[in-house]
Amino acid sequence: MRQVRFNHLLGLAGVSREVITEILDSAEAFLEVLERPIPRVPSLRGVTVANLFFEPSTRTRISFELAEKRLSADVVNFSSIGSSMSKGETILDTARNIEAMKVDVVVIRHSAQGAPHFLAERINAAVINAGDGTHEHPTQALLDMLTLRHQVGRLEGLKVLILGDILHSRVARSNIWGLRTMGAEVTLCGPATLIPREVESLGVNVTHNLDEALAWCEVVNVLRLQLERQREGLIPSLREYQRSFGLTRERMERAGREIVVMHPGPINRGIEIDSDVADGPYSVILRQVTFGVAVRMAVLYLIAGGERVIE
Ligand code: CP
Repeated sequence: MRQVRFNHLLGLAGVSREVITEILDSAEAFLEVLERPIPRVPSLRGVTVANLFFEPSTRTRISFELAEKRLSADVVNFSSIGSSMSKGETILDTARNIEAMKVDVVVIRHSAQGAPHFLAERINAAVINAGDGTHEHPTQALLDMLTLRHQVGRLEGLKVLILGDILHSRVARSNIWGLRTMGAEVTLCGPATLIPREVESLGVNVTHNLDEALAWCEVVNVLRLQLERQREGLIPSLREYQRSFGLTRERMERAGREIVVMHPGPINRGIEIDSDVADGPYSVILRQVTFGVAVRMAVLYLIAGGERVIE
């Protein structure tokens, strides 16, 4: 097996097509492992991984933990709630103390942009970004791309619409970097207040007309309206947002053809997407979650055990 080695995964900005392809190809092998009666390989035996979650998570936290266990790694989980951070310990001291217990890989989610980069410069363990503020969420974009490769069969030239709250979305940023590198066409749609101007320099199109965007795309990736990060005045009201940018069955029917529907979760049902669509025939939302385990196995394997064979 051809193998690319890398030390950290901090984001998809600047990550080459070769590396992304290697991760997705490795994830394909792990999808096969996950179908076995005993879905476990010894690839990371003797490797210790610490999952440091300073922000809430369901999918990413469980997915990383499952991926690590499926690879036979030793796993420790840290949540800032109930930790010594409540006594004033810093993130760096926390990470250094955990590393002193001979941890090889740190998976980190944090509300501050750049927290994984900060750690990567200061500790010896490999660092994987599991979502940093509004900056990047690289494994989410990788699992989205793996899902698309399976569902549509290609990324090159694929027309992907990213819909909704782009301003606060690390998922959008990582998807833009990854999809553009892999040759997809990307259009962003949402209210002007939720699309930062600088994204146009990343080679994407921007529209505020959802019906036109749906007429163009093959895939729509719907983003959660991040209610906890909204400042006053960004949207007139939830009702207004839903009316202009909510993905409804009526809108999908108006588009008149099959469009793959994605969402990173968690979903605000009835706001950015209706249940009819989220649970409908074109939705791959739960497949994304399934593929997430294989992608995280691939990332861990290439960072911590890439020279060993998958047995
Ligand atoms: N997609 C995602 O990051 O979900 P969680 O916040 O539940 O991890």
